[in-house]
Amino acid sequence: ETGNVTLDSGFVNTAACTSAITFIDGDTGILRYRGYPIEQLAEQSTYLETAYLLIYGELPSADEMASFDAKIRRHTLLHEDLKAFFNGFPRDAHPMPVLSSAVSALSTFYQDSLDPFDQDQVEISTYRLLAKLPTIAAYAYKKSMGQPFLYPDNHLSLTENFLRMTFGFPAEPYELDPTIVKGLDLLLLLHADHEQNCSTSTVRLVGSSHANLFASISAGINALFGPLHGGANQQVLEMLAQVKNSGESPKDFMMHVKNKETKQKLMGFGHRVYKNYDPRASIIKQTADDILGRLGVDDPLLDIAMELEEIALGDDYFVERRLYPNVDFYTGLIYKAMGFPTKMFTVLFALGRLPGWIAQWREMIEDPATKIGRPRQVYIGEGARDYVAIDQR
Ligand code: SDX
Repeated sequence: ETGNVTLDSGFVNTAACTSAITFIDGDTGILRYRGYPIEQLAEQSTYLETAYLLIYGELPSADEMASFDAKIRRHTLLHEDLKAFFNGFPRDAHPMPVLSSAVSALSTFYQDSLDPFDQDQVEISTYRLLAKLPTIAAYAYKKSMGQPFLYPDNHLSLTENFLRMTFGFPAEPYELDPTIVKGLDLLLLLHADHEQNCSTSTVRLVGSSHANLFASISAGINALFGPLHGGANQQVLEMLAQVKNSGESPKDFMMHVKNKETKQKLMGFGHRVYKNYDPRASIIKQTADDILGRLGVDDPLLDIAMELEEIALGDDYFVERRLYPNVDFYTGLIYKAMGFPTKMFTVLFALGRLPGWIAQWREMIEDPATKIGRPRQVYIGEGARDYVAIDQR
């Protein structure tokens, strides 16, 4: 019995690995981090406290949380040579390859803390990644806007610091909006882990060669960039805008989705595991309504999204294929209302997922039994045959 699922030999043989971090039941739409239901964490926890839970396995005491927070605040600055790194990117570069390049480059600045089997080095690399990824993400945004970088202000929380470095300017004070701070912190928490999804499996597989944590996380960022994975939240907004600008009704748009010829997917719908409503999507949908209302944003794209969902939930094509909204369907609308451009949406997904990637990498290093190992294949190519000289072909 593990996480209320009996692991019979068949299941274990097909599973990529065993893990004690996140439990998902795709049929009933259950998601738990270290046994705690996502609904309770969303209601009562914070992104950083949830990061602690995922990485260390238990909720922190007040002293443990204060110490964890203080250690991370000390590492928010980037090395000035790494800051110079951004000058080399074209201004119109997508921030995701900037993120993965900068994270990979961290291993050139911290060559003294790359040993996956030295606990102190893994610990400081954990703090550095959690602290510096928000700074790198903010700088990637500033680079794309041609605006000056802001140094971190360590009096602020991680989420507050990120918002100030992203939207603040050196010439004037930046006023934090509590609705945006709380809303973003919740979205980061909801993305924090999701068992063996594409990017997390990538982090584990790269780490299984004993590659360092920075190299493994950089690989995970690249996997997340794919439009079928983390890139979907950007694609959802582009799809909703396409429906709005086309002038056709959501009902007509859905006809394209159901017509195989068009290959048009309903982005933000469907999931490899959830064959029911993604529990994160339920929370995010409620949050979207609340945040847009508090920010006084009346976005017609939200109405289109809700109409598309209503149509899908009543249409056999989607019901029979068990296609429901996933974590990406409503998030982009909230990020847009907060002021983020669509190119930053997947970066925000990476910021949220970072604690899960770190926790899963550490679990795999600490317990070889949880390694993904070297996947095998079923060979379906040509049988054995002899070489033919080129003048005989
Ligand atoms: C994330 O793994 C994770 O945990 C990922 C994630 C995480 O937190 O890490 O949850 C984050 O990646 C969420 C998914 C974001 N991607 C999208 O929203 C892109 C659109 N969704 C799909 O491409 C698709 O649903 C997948 C890839 C997410 C899941 O594919 P499945 O469950 O393997 O489904 P499938 O490809 O086997 O399709 C089953 C049927 C097919 O039709 P038929 O051939 O049976 O006629 O459903 C159809 C598919 O064509 N289908 C869709 C659809 N998704 C599947 N039809 C229209 N729109 C869609 N979105």
